[in-house]
Amino acid sequence: MIGLSHIIKRFGDNTVLKDVSVDIKEGSVTALVGPSGGGKSTLLRCINLLEIPTSGSVRIGNDTLEFSPDIKVPTKAIQQLRRQTGMVFQNFQLFPHRTAIENVMEGLVTVLKWPEAKARERALSLLEKVGMAHKVDAWPATLSGGQQQRVAIARALAPQPQVLLCDEPTSALDPELAQEVVDVLGQLAREGTTMVIATHDLRLASKIAHEVVFLEAGVVVEKGPASEVFFNPAHERTRRFIATITHQHGGGGEG
Ligand SMILES: Nc1ncnc2c1ncn2[C@@H]1O[C@H](COP(=O)(O)OP(=O)(O)OP(=O)(O)O)[C@@H](O)[C@H]1O
Ligand SMILES: [Mg+2]
Repeated sequence: MIGLSHIIKRFGDNTVLKDVSVDIKEGSVTALVGPSGGGKSTLLRCINLLEIPTSGSVRIGNDTLEFSPDIKVPTKAIQQLRRQTGMVFQNFQLFPHRTAIENVMEGLVTVLKWPEAKARERALSLLEKVGMAHKVDAWPATLSGGQQQRVAIARALAPQPQVLLCDEPTSALDPELAQEVVDVLGQLAREGTTMVIATHDLRLASKIAHEVVFLEAGVVVEKGPASEVFFNPAHERTRRFIATITHQHGGGGEG
């Protein structure tokens, strides 16, 4: 349902994605993991076209865009594809001068031209879903990081995107606040929300991901069902990476 095919992304002469192909099934949760600088954020940003791939193709639902250095893809086509995605960032990025509910309504009213009352109704139901119904009129600055991130998730879901993209959604949060965000993402996963999550948090990944893509230096080293990649990786490199992270967090290991 979402397909990235032979994606290459260069910044100047630095090739940061080297022929990456990934398929994402509807209703699945895919974790992008791997060392810092490996290209996780860039890959996410190539799905919603915040970065334009140097070459390769991106398909979401029935829309496919092909990229190559000598094709200029029209902005309209890019915007149309992007609108089928919602993005959640590490640092929330709420509009500071809008209340929680206004943040969630914003895109519906300004981009999709929904009438105010209908947008408010949808925003309310989303804020309820993420456990923020008691804070609809709060300013972002008065909310905890976990609360801000839950509002950001509601905002990203408001236009009913085909896929929710999350870039390190818990890494700016203390463990306790991270947990409330993990709980919300886990609930969305159970409801069948298609998600792609770049994360260093293997606890988050192992809890909610069905599929794992291990990306290093712009190359997919290994991908497959979470149970296999996490617990029985095929590649020595993946095994070492997972061992390092689980040791850092004081969990398991091969002992
Ligand atoms: N806008 C940009 N201009 C130039 N280089 C960039 C840009 N964005 C990313 N890069 C480079 O692309 C490479 C991949 O970066 P990216 O942020 O995708 O990695 P990451 O896997 O998300 O890392 P982290 O785990 O630290 O978040 C890095 O070498 C980075 O310096
Ligand atoms: Mg990143």
